[in-house]
Amino acid sequence: MLPAVINIFEKAAKKAGKILIRDFGEIENLQIQSKSVGDFVTNADIKVEKSILETLKYYYPDYTYITEESGKIKGDENTIIIDPIDGTSNFIHGIPHVSIIIAKMIDEEITDGIIYNPILNEFFWSSKGKGAWCNDRRLRVSKRSNLSECLIGTGLPFGKRVYKNYLSEIDEILKVTAGIRRLGSAGLDLAYVASGKLDGFWEKDINLWDISSGILIVKEAGGKISNMDGDKWTINSREILASNSQIHDVLSKKLSLL
Ligand code: IPD
Ligand code: CA
Ligand code: CA
Repeated sequence: MLPAVINIFEKAAKKAGKILIRDFGEIENLQIQSKSVGDFVTNADIKVEKSILETLKYYYPDYTYITEESGKIKGDENTIIIDPIDGTSNFIHGIPHVSIIIAKMIDEEITDGIIYNPILNEFFWSSKGKGAWCNDRRLRVSKRSNLSECLIGTGLPFGKRVYKNYLSEIDEILKVTAGIRRLGSAGLDLAYVASGKLDGFWEKDINLWDISSGILIVKEAGGKISNMDGDKWTINSREILASNSQIHDVLSKKLSLL
């Protein structure tokens, strides 16, 4: 049986997921007509978020909400964090690798979270102490400890977000691993670390709503989360290093010595 809060998150995500799927189907038409896909997507983000908020506020009218599209709605100490479409660039280009992310936080700690890919119908969830799950399958991180067999996810910066050492980071990691993936949804990247598909993941200049649920899901699947230098990750960290825990120190050393 799902914890009550996960049940409610599931209800909100699956309802909003229908809007996301419908709009995803429209993208192809818009691209053919070469209309403004940008505006359409902004609207999709807003519509999906509005639907999630509507469901959640019915059950939790007094909570604080931190959302990507509507900003912060102040309430009590219980906080819900929402990213309505994680992987917007994928969405715009008709690539079905997108997710809805909803997490609950109390006293700066993530206690419950979901990451839902409505297109593949993959519902990842975790509550503190209850393990990590995808639909009804329990998740475990990979057991790989030999870096040369490991596949590592990352988020490449773009536009104004480019920072100095990103090419050295890529160079350092791809020489010693089985490869790097830039899949385009930080939420799903973390869900894939928890599932043992990716062995590690790092990204800099990242927002809390991108990684909120993923932090808990990775930990509950037996993985490790920290800042790039191995220090404790906090909700104010603007970066993340996640792994199956076996390769954490070596990844951290390689990425923080640059
Ligand atoms: C982005 C995705 C992407 C990551 C970016 C995020 P958005 O979120 O998670 O994978 O590299 O840092 O901003 O904008 O698609 O919600
Ligand atoms: Ca995001
Ligand atoms: Ca988003």
